[in-house]
Amino acid sequence: MDFPVAKCAVLSLLGKVSPRELPKLIQWLKTTNDFDELVWENNDVILQNIAEDLRSCMPMDGMLDSEHRAIEKMQQNPVPTIHVDAFLYCDDFVDTLCEEGKMSRHYCATCGSHQIAPLEFLSHSFSRVELKFLYQHVLPDLTGKILIDTGSRLGAVLFGGYLYSSAAQLQGVEINAEFCRLQEMILRKYHFADRIQVIHADVCTQASLLQAADVIVLNNVFEYFLEETEQSRAWIYISNNVRKKGTFLVTVPSLEESLHSLQTGIDLSQWVKEVQLDYNVYIGKETDEESLSHIHLYQVL
Ligand SMILES: C[S@@+](CC[C@H](N)C(=O)[O-])C[C@H]1O[C@@H](n2cnc3c(N)ncnc32)[C@H](O)[C@@H]1O
Repeated sequence: MDFPVAKCAVLSLLGKVSPRELPKLIQWLKTTNDFDELVWENNDVILQNIAEDLRSCMPMDGMLDSEHRAIEKMQQNPVPTIHVDAFLYCDDFVDTLCEEGKMSRHYCATCGSHQIAPLEFLSHSFSRVELKFLYQHVLPDLTGKILIDTGSRLGAVLFGGYLYSSAAQLQGVEINAEFCRLQEMILRKYHFADRIQVIHADVCTQASLLQAADVIVLNNVFEYFLEETEQSRAWIYISNNVRKKGTFLVTVPSLEESLHSLQTGIDLSQWVKEVQLDYNVYIGKETDEESLSHIHLYQVL
């Protein structure tokens, strides 16, 4: 049954419910988690298992000691921020950690008082809900296509692509050797190496890879990891090498936001056009429209 037919069937059923009971039924439809099993698939379980494997290899803030520069840069952030890797820890898991007193969603705004304010949460990976949104709602059919994740970190985008898409090749470029080792460990354990490759390199040395790609994912790749001059250099390199007409770029945040404070000279209107996305989708009870709305899609002109 396709969507229009199913919608008619639901409306017809609602029309038969007694008027006194209808508000209760509608309230249940709006708030229930009972539908989650319908959208929960075997691939979700595999992705959850991968997250569990990686959790045991990572500190709780999802940052490695070898990320000196990124840690230093983040400590300069004036807003109290907590680092939680959304691929490793879903919202429910964070709630449990807060209940157990192992994590807090608030900080004391006036030391010693009870005045508290919410902490800002920062994730360095896509969550599992965001990955499903990416592959099932943002990107077209990827059969035969090559996808590159620039700064592939724990490999979330690559593993999600293996499970939720038919992409022929999923290539991760990651500058940090430790993260490359973790991704390789998962490739071996889950036998993903037929479609996933991880390249330990600065993406700014990978011209031919970028030129051949059909989809390039750039999730907060430079802003927290490089100084502004290096960020400008990296974006100029990307814009010089991603020129194949029709190539998709998936970015967080928008390209406009990433570039606005940098001196790159990139004229976005000559390079890409933005594809409007519908963020009003249901991908299980953890669907958060606000977090999905940070994902942007562009196509090279
Ligand atoms: C925010 S994480 C992105 C995680 C992942 N793509 C995802 O969406 O789940 C950014 C990653 O980019 C890496 N990185 C930063 N600059 C890079 C560069 N020039 N070349 C390759 N990787 C880089 C960092 O080490 C970090 O692991």
